[in-house]
Amino acid sequence: MAISQIISLFLLHLLLPLASISLSQSSHQLICEVGTGNGGLVGGISPLPASLSKLLIKGGTVVNAHRQERADVYVEDGIIVAVKPNIKVGDEVTVLDATGRYVMPGGIDPHTHLDAEFMGTVAVDDFFSGQAAALAGGTTMHIDFVHPVNGSLMSGFEAYEKKASKSCMDYGFHMVIRHWDESVSKEMEIMVKEKGINSFKFFMAYKGTFMVDDEVLLRGMKRCKSLGALAMVHAENGDAVFEGQKRMIELGITGPEGHALSRPPMLEAEATTRAIRLARFVNTPLYVVHVMSIDAMEEIAKARKTGQKVIGEPVVSGLVLDDSKLWDPDFITAAKYVMSPPIRESGHNKALQAALSTGVLQLVGTDHCTFNSSQKAFGIDDFRKIPNGVNGIEERMHLVWDTMVESGQISVTDYVRITSTECARIFNIYPRKGAILVGSDADIIIFNPNSSFEINPRSHHSRTNTNVYEGRKGKGKVEVTISRGRIVWKDDELKVAPGSGKYIPMPPFGFLFDGIEKTDAKLISSFKAPVLRFKSDV
Ligand code: URP
Ligand code: ZN
Ligand code: ZN
Repeated sequence: MAISQIISLFLLHLLLPLASISLSQSSHQLICEVGTGNGGLVGGISPLPASLSKLLIKGGTVVNAHRQERADVYVEDGIIVAVKPNIKVGDEVTVLDATGRYVMPGGIDPHTHLDAEFMGTVAVDDFFSGQAAALAGGTTMHIDFVHPVNGSLMSGFEAYEKKASKSCMDYGFHMVIRHWDESVSKEMEIMVKEKGINSFKFFMAYKGTFMVDDEVLLRGMKRCKSLGALAMVHAENGDAVFEGQKRMIELGITGPEGHALSRPPMLEAEATTRAIRLARFVNTPLYVVHVMSIDAMEEIAKARKTGQKVIGEPVVSGLVLDDSKLWDPDFITAAKYVMSPPIRESGHNKALQAALSTGVLQLVGTDHCTFNSSQKAFGIDDFRKIPNGVNGIEERMHLVWDTMVESGQISVTDYVRITSTECARIFNIYPRKGAILVGSDADIIIFNPNSSFEINPRSHHSRTNTNVYEGRKGKGKVEVTISRGRIVWKDDELKVAPGSGKYIPMPPFGFLFDGIEKTDAKLISSFKAPVLRFKSDV
């Protein structure tokens, strides 16, 4: 990073409000503090104790995506100011002993739906409860999906600004495109140039609500390209899914298993390859969210082999679960696993892990979109009415460690890459996020590879009363989470402040756009057209 960039990051952080007061205590060792953010908060304001603004993490192994080293990390006012061995500090500095631990960038979850209005209900985790859960699991930033309101991107953005005002960790936004007209095209430009959004998502499924047709997708991709924004797709053939659902109901299959049967992997693969080909036709990068099947993954692998810039994001549920629970005789047990695309039968999970370990897929999200059992019960007589979505924001870091690192499939540096750095790079906020480097935000976890975790819906921090990972145990534990230099998770206790999280604007034209004008020019020159023809009398 250039010195000037480091200095400007520094100045930016010095300007941030730094105050909080203790307010109340609730369950799960969650100590809630009120901050000075934009939370519409009650109570007075007192400065942060000095110990929170100066922090030394001593004796650990610092892991970045590019290398690991034995070093101390010194933090002031939320920014990393030194990474080197044997840093000496005065008594005013809080010292954390990280001996025998990894010191890594906090996780970044590229795919969440907090406080989302979806399928006639609202996801139970809002920007406070979902983020508190994330911090307890070592994730320090997430990117959520803003939906337009009454067709307006700006109204949608403003609505999400409000929802996010209670944030206790940093966050960014993607924007969903649901229809096409001149005003959407104009508002996309405003979102990119004035609001810090550099990605737009197109749903190829959810016919009748979110789904867009190929014309909207094509126009949207073209507009994304001109703005330097990344086009993202939920890739399932929505028309065929609709047909599949009807077929299930006609067969009398109304339970959660009908969800999986109505939208098989071939429909995910069809939409994935269609989106890939349209992105290739437009010559713009593509990001495929929640890749759940071998079939879709192989389409991405094929495209990447040709040199096309396609990013594939598996989610934790697809990596570690299989579809067997959808056949559970207890409706509530089965319904909690309903998400789209569906969790696939065993074998897809292992193949997605392998694709992640070999670089065919690049980063891991969660698609955290939680509903209580009472909401899942809306679909007791008809699987089409079960709100789609599972949890994962709190569990991702542990499950990815256990599944990928503990099993020997990837290195610790690769773990940092797929849980944090790659997301920061793709969405153009690296190295402010996703790195333990001088000048980066102090979003840090201290991870003990010799400890262990166990997942339990009675002790998790999400508001949902179920957990699709219930009962899972494994090696490794996030012992400390530091968010912008503040210790927010330690000794199994959360100290979080509504309003302390900050919106992270994401600039356009990330690295995926490098060279696009050259490939455009090459394509046009390959046309050998227009052909100069002599006018002849006919
Ligand atoms: O089932 C899911 N995935 N729910 C969240 C919305 C989406 O499709 O990403
Ligand atoms: Zn989706
Ligand atoms: Zn999603």
